[in-house]
Amino acid sequence: MDAVVVGLDIGSASTKAVVLKDSQIVGYAILSTGFNPQYSGIRAIGEACEKAGINPKDVVYTVATGYGRINAPFANSRVTEITCHAKGAFFTNNRARTVIDVGGQDSKVISIDEKGRVVDFQMNDRCAAGTGRFLEVMMRTLDMNYEEMSQAVINSENPSKISNMCTVFAESEVISLLAKGERRENIAAGLCHSISERIATMVKRIGLKEEVIMTGGVAKNRGIVKLLENKLNTKISVPKEPQIIGALGAALEAKEAILKIKQS
Ligand SMILES: Nc1ncnc2c1ncn2[C@@H]1O[C@H](COP(=O)(O)OP(=O)(O)OP(=O)(O)O)[C@@H](O)[C@H]1O
Ligand SMILES: [Mg+2]
Repeated sequence: MDAVVVGLDIGSASTKAVVLKDSQIVGYAILSTGFNPQYSGIRAIGEACEKAGINPKDVVYTVATGYGRINAPFANSRVTEITCHAKGAFFTNNRARTVIDVGGQDSKVISIDEKGRVVDFQMNDRCAAGTGRFLEVMMRTLDMNYEEMSQAVINSENPSKISNMCTVFAESEVISLLAKGERRENIAAGLCHSISERIATMVKRIGLKEEVIMTGGVAKNRGIVKLLENKLNTKISVPKEPQIIGALGAALEAKEAILKIKQS
């Protein structure tokens, strides 16, 4: 029987923990990161263990990833997000060769080989444009929720043209479109178009290799996934819970670390 391991992904928007036992996810948690990443990390592990019916004391090894991984001194080791996302995505679909991860603060495209190893990657972490943060700001301005935002892509017959990609300027553009009487649905669809355009450009820059898998919270927006499929002219698979894939990869790293210790 495998030891119980934990993967912890402290992201800019949310903190995710995955408990792995016998290569099965037996529990997971997704919490808002808030202003205290260390506390969110501890809470996420506690919640995931509780769901798994496991005492946190029985966790043998923990690997932390995500921008806030330095805030997890209690973890046994820390691994980069690129490695963890690649590993987690490949575990859920071993035919995947391109991983698109769109989180709260950055978007990344990772090229992987037939063994799931990272070959190349592109990352946009300089501004909120093309990320979940951009969507959240716009959702607030439009007074819409995640589901309405995603549905707008499917329902809108005439998506607005959004010319600004910068979050601050795009928000002003949205406000002026609303003032002109433009339908919220069309504006939301236009915003999803502009996000997916930006992600598609990153994929093309690195070179699309099939199959494509999408992870991160933004992969829950089915409208954006559909637009990306059209722009890239390929099918995109989305894991059942795309937001925990980085944490899953970290848990798999933890499993490998134990194996190495046993073999040495
Ligand atoms: N149900 C949902 N539908 C659509 N989008 C969602 C949903 N839930 C979360 N999101 C989006 O996912 C984003 C957070 O995703 P994720 O948890 O992958 O980010 P993160 O790992 O914290 O950020 P980063 O990797 O950039 O540091 C939010 O900003 C939000 O826009
Ligand atoms: Mg992330």
